[in-house]
Amino acid sequence: MMPAERILHEAIQVAPLGLTDDVKRQKIENSLVQMRLSAATARKIQDIFRSEMNKGIHQQPSSLQMENTYIPELPNGTEEGLFLALDLGGTNFRVLLIELVNGVIVREDVKKYHIDAHLRTGSGIPLFEYLAECVSNFVISEGLQDVELPLGFTFSFPMIQHSLETGILLTWTKSFNCPDVVNKDAVKLLKDALARRADTRVKVVAVLNDTTGTLLQGATQDPNTAIGLILGTGSNACYLERADKVEHWEPERHGEREVIIDIEWGAFGDNGVLDFIKTDFDRENDANSLLVKSFTFEKYISGKYLGEVVRIILVKLLKDGLLFTRETPKKLLTVGSFLTDYVSLIEQDTVDGGGSNTKEVLAKFDIVPDEEDLKIVQYVCEVASNRAALLVSICLATLLDHMEREEVTIAVDGSLYKHHPRFESWMNQYISLLSPARKFKLIQTQDGSGKGAAIVAAIALKLKQRLE
Ligand code: GLC
Repeated sequence: MMPAERILHEAIQVAPLGLTDDVKRQKIENSLVQMRLSAATARKIQDIFRSEMNKGIHQQPSSLQMENTYIPELPNGTEEGLFLALDLGGTNFRVLLIELVNGVIVREDVKKYHIDAHLRTGSGIPLFEYLAECVSNFVISEGLQDVELPLGFTFSFPMIQHSLETGILLTWTKSFNCPDVVNKDAVKLLKDALARRADTRVKVVAVLNDTTGTLLQGATQDPNTAIGLILGTGSNACYLERADKVEHWEPERHGEREVIIDIEWGAFGDNGVLDFIKTDFDRENDANSLLVKSFTFEKYISGKYLGEVVRIILVKLLKDGLLFTRETPKKLLTVGSFLTDYVSLIEQDTVDGGGSNTKEVLAKFDIVPDEEDLKIVQYVCEVASNRAALLVSICLATLLDHMEREEVTIAVDGSLYKHHPRFESWMNQYISLLSPARKFKLIQTQDGSGKGAAIVAAIALKLKQRLE
């Protein structure tokens, strides 16, 4: 092994499972062996990601969509006005009123609305009716029903964009599945629902992805920002690409030098290119998910699934008689019961060398663990989390190499990144080892999906004015 590969190999190891019973330790480590990626596998994934990115950008079949967002510039401090922003994608739907003066937010009112499961997974029309109802409710409560309000719509799902104002939904992801509106324009669905109500003067001027909002919000904090990353319920990234490298332009490109590309890396591997790392745990996780056989990569790494991967492993160890031998914890058998936030809490114990969080989490499942159970649960959380952080780092390192910029700041948002105690440090370490020639920095942004939507709406108006 070359020295650089040896360093990488050593860095991606997790601490050995510290059990006194050697046979049991060996059995558990063997059960998890496929979750542990070697340096050679990391390099192989890097090559595949690079090739899928290149194919996607050249409009060839690829599991990476590499979608043109039609956002050709970053905020430059001239953004002005009163904007509405919508954020749909995570667990809540949010409506925001944002006032920008010289690119700075001087006013921000926010309201969260819950979206019931029957709206998230039924017909799409009632869903968009409900979104329009929330918008009206919010605008009227602000007393702005007679004011023309430009709106930026953060719609965090894969879409085909023909312009800044169209977003044809390609597939639902995460907790949404309203099949009758797939292949429909989310902007038109929203506009139509607002028009049917006719009780406000809201004007949808731009649609965007949450990664894009994060990149733009990051750019207001650090001008080197050129990647937006979400590590939350779902996971995805976008980046600033040279416009002449992008083949899909509708209408034709007019002088843009750069443009933001939405990678949609959650779908990485949907064409089978990542099957060689798929474990039985991943197969079960996929089978238990709302949208089976789609968003392969997201199911390895994101907050909606990481807890479930851990749960599936724990249940396997339990069934093999290696864990919780004193009781049968029925609650643990429920799909989706082990939240990713529990993984973050347990990982905090590993960092601190304690066990109190782990005990608290297990108490929710009526489990009173012994010392060995504690170590095993912590080990499983570490292995699954470490794989996720490594996979994200592999893609980011490859992206940095592809971008060939002097220095890149990566703006990050999302509950997994923010709540997990080790993601940031693992990512800093792994990206540096995988892409040693590139200078990068990870920064956290606050609410890119909300604030970013207002910034995009402001940019959309500036672009329109320039064309007039
Ligand atoms: C899913 C969506 C993607 C979004 C990500 C993070 O992967 O498909 O558009 O950016 O979740 O919310």
